[in-house]
Amino acid sequence: MVDFTLTDEQKALRDMAHDFAAKEIRPVAWEFDKDATWPQEIIEKAWELGLMNSHVPEEYGGPGVSALDGALIEEELAWGCSGIATSVGANGLATAPLIIGGSDELKRTYLGMLSEAPVLSSFCLTEPDAGSDVSGMRTTAVRKGDKWVINGSKCFITNGGYASFFTVYAKTDKEAGHRGISCFLVPKDGTVTVDKKEDKMGQRASNTATISFNETEIPIGHLIGQENKGFKLAMQTLDRTRPGVAAMATGIARAAFEFATAYSKERVQFGVPIAMHQGIQFMIADMATKVHLSRLATWNSAVLLDQGRRNTLESSHAKRFAADAAMEVATDAVQVYGGYGFIKEYPVEKLMRDAKIMQLYEGTSQIQRLVIARETLLPRRVDEPAAVA
Ligand code: CAA
Repeated sequence: MVDFTLTDEQKALRDMAHDFAAKEIRPVAWEFDKDATWPQEIIEKAWELGLMNSHVPEEYGGPGVSALDGALIEEELAWGCSGIATSVGANGLATAPLIIGGSDELKRTYLGMLSEAPVLSSFCLTEPDAGSDVSGMRTTAVRKGDKWVINGSKCFITNGGYASFFTVYAKTDKEAGHRGISCFLVPKDGTVTVDKKEDKMGQRASNTATISFNETEIPIGHLIGQENKGFKLAMQTLDRTRPGVAAMATGIARAAFEFATAYSKERVQFGVPIAMHQGIQFMIADMATKVHLSRLATWNSAVLLDQGRRNTLESSHAKRFAADAAMEVATDAVQVYGGYGFIKEYPVEKLMRDAKIMQLYEGTSQIQRLVIARETLLPRRVDEPAAVA
């Protein structure tokens, strides 16, 4: 049966997230954007309400809600401010490899930490010379006795400046390309340095940092999954988390669409509200369609995960479509506002800047197309199960 009707519990969860976004995020979003203010208090409140770490399974102290429920939360928070939503949601990306492949002991310790306090963690994959091309990374992990020693630098790390622990990808066999990468759980200590905080175009309330590991020693048991299987773990992680980015993109698009719709009914030109002009109506119609289809693609990719099925193709469909749609809808919202849309005093200028990152992080729109092309030309079995812990 195909049914997109939410249950009463899901509606209540979505309403709670919306209420939080409307009361706690929206009123400060433009101010926080201006000064790139870190939203510590909002993160703490989101944590108290259970809007953070929704992905952590119940057996490790989390709410353990479904991927679809998580997407409902992410759309609402991003409707409030996608920079703040990214800060609140980044633990989902950081801990996905741990949930998929970590030992029970690691999970109890580190997922447990997230349930006990509003602790943050970061996903450390990207490097200056290894963005889309993950296997070009240079960070190394060398086994010395009962320890791993990690050296290297990771960039564009969300929440990096505030994280208490990191999931770090490093080369364990330099000659083996993507088959020589492993993933590690690295607690913050004196050897882990925050080298740079980025000054960004959009999502300015989120923290993006360069993090370096300098002879960082971790216990042998902090390897996540199997040695040299880290590349696949990263791909499986992104399959899981891209629906969340698609949900955030839907939230941005919806916010831009709502602002543009309201403005088009107020703004009078040629003696009538501009909403009466067909040129504007068609833009509003296209925005509505894009928001609708972004949400459907997002939900579809999340539901597959909830059914334990591999969602690589659908996840890239959703991430690609929703990210590009958010950019288009936000750009059109600026167009509906006319000259005012270009002015910071009006809300849509921020949304256009925020939307841009949706086409960049967690795999650019071009990388999503690459995945879609490969999955289309060389399809994998549709009933292939998703990664399990
Ligand atoms: N699930 C499981 N296995 C997968 C997989 C998947 N979804 N995708 C690929 N694999 C496997 C392949 O089967 C292959 O396996 P074998 O070793 O057995 O042959 C292996 O992984 C290599 O696959 P490819 O040949 O397809 O690898 P590639 O080097 O061509 O790369 C890619 C593919 C899609 C381009 C990938 O590198 C990619 O997704 N790049 C983008 C990286 C990305 O999204 N970075 C964002 C970082 S996180 C972030 O932005 C958040 C933040 O905090 C800012």
